[in-house]
Amino acid sequence: MVSTAASQSHPSRIAIVGVGNVGATFAYALLLSGLASEIVLIDLNRSRAEGEVMDLNHTEPFAHPTRIWAGDYSDCAGAAVTVVCAGAAQKPGETRLDLVKKNTAIFRSIVPEVARYNPNGILLIATNPVDVLTYVSWKLSSLPAARVIGSGTILDTARFRYLLSQHFGVDSRSVHAYIVGEHGDSEVPVWSLANIAGMRLPDFCAAQGHDYSQLDMDKIFEQTRDAAYQIIQRKGATFYAVAAGLMRIVEAILRDQSTVLSISSRIEHYYGIDDVCLSLPTVVDRDGVEQVLHLALNEQEIAALRQSAGVLKETIGQLDL
Ligand SMILES: NC(=O)c1ccc[n+]([C@@H]2O[C@H](COP(=O)([O-])OP(=O)(O)OC[C@H]3O[C@@H](n4cnc5c(N)ncnc54)[C@H](O)[C@@H]3O)[C@@H](O)[C@H]2O)c1
Repeated sequence: MVSTAASQSHPSRIAIVGVGNVGATFAYALLLSGLASEIVLIDLNRSRAEGEVMDLNHTEPFAHPTRIWAGDYSDCAGAAVTVVCAGAAQKPGETRLDLVKKNTAIFRSIVPEVARYNPNGILLIATNPVDVLTYVSWKLSSLPAARVIGSGTILDTARFRYLLSQHFGVDSRSVHAYIVGEHGDSEVPVWSLANIAGMRLPDFCAAQGHDYSQLDMDKIFEQTRDAAYQIIQRKGATFYAVAAGLMRIVEAILRDQSTVLSISSRIEHYYGIDDVCLSLPTVVDRDGVEQVLHLALNEQEIAALRQSAGVLKETIGQLDL
């Protein structure tokens, strides 16, 4: 076959670095979705990657024809998105920020290599602490900030919507509510804008003849914020929901959907917040971050968001980037 520029590009190649719980679950979801034509798995533990490839290949007859192989960083060339899930996982009792130094060192061996072979793709980070590592990846890759994304609070927002949906008795997809800021202990629920069918939650309650209880709402937020600790205590790791969130982000990119997602990216001029990665509702399309939406937050939410940004900036400041 004649080699042309077009035949050398891989519009739906997705590279996954780190195929443990999160990376392998994402690869499986991606294969079942049929969104990617090529999936390359890269892991320090090569035999683990090879084992995952074999298992995934045997899934193909039930799914979609997809080229899947265990590769190295040169295989990131032409990938639309490189998803990084490599690193140490959170241990019981350990905060996400405790992980930062360990995983920054790991990222020094990964991110420059990905950027070297794939200067035109999008980097999507899942490894924790995800906001700090998204910032680290932006620095280490020298890619435009719009093409360095963290999964951020896409997971927390999903947990929040699920719990609210259970409380209010509607489909979680009909609940419009966001968790912003850090994916972690300082995250912020945006109660002032949360709504069902355009009705703020107290109005929705009134229309249904129910009382609105801020105490119940506070409990829902605590369950959202602490969900990872609860799951890790019981099953050792969390991976299904984050993998589904990564799928949603990759779908928005590959299909150029301009979807509003709470993902982490580098923020500037946002209620006085500058030069830090954190999550806000963001329009995501084939170029990555199209636009970070400026929410009309109330005073309390602005203060909480600034505090969350402060926590992240302090950690970033402790790194030698
Ligand atoms: N962002 C989120 O919402 C979210 C949710 C769950 C987990 N996580 C995070 O995702 C990360 C992965 O979690 P997991 O449960 O899959 O962990 P895991 O231990 O199962 O997998 C990590 C993988 O990374 C690989 N790895 C380590 N160093 C590497 C390197 N230098 N190069 C290539 N591969 C390397 C390991 O061999 C392993 O296969 C953790 O940081 C975890 O905290 C994030």
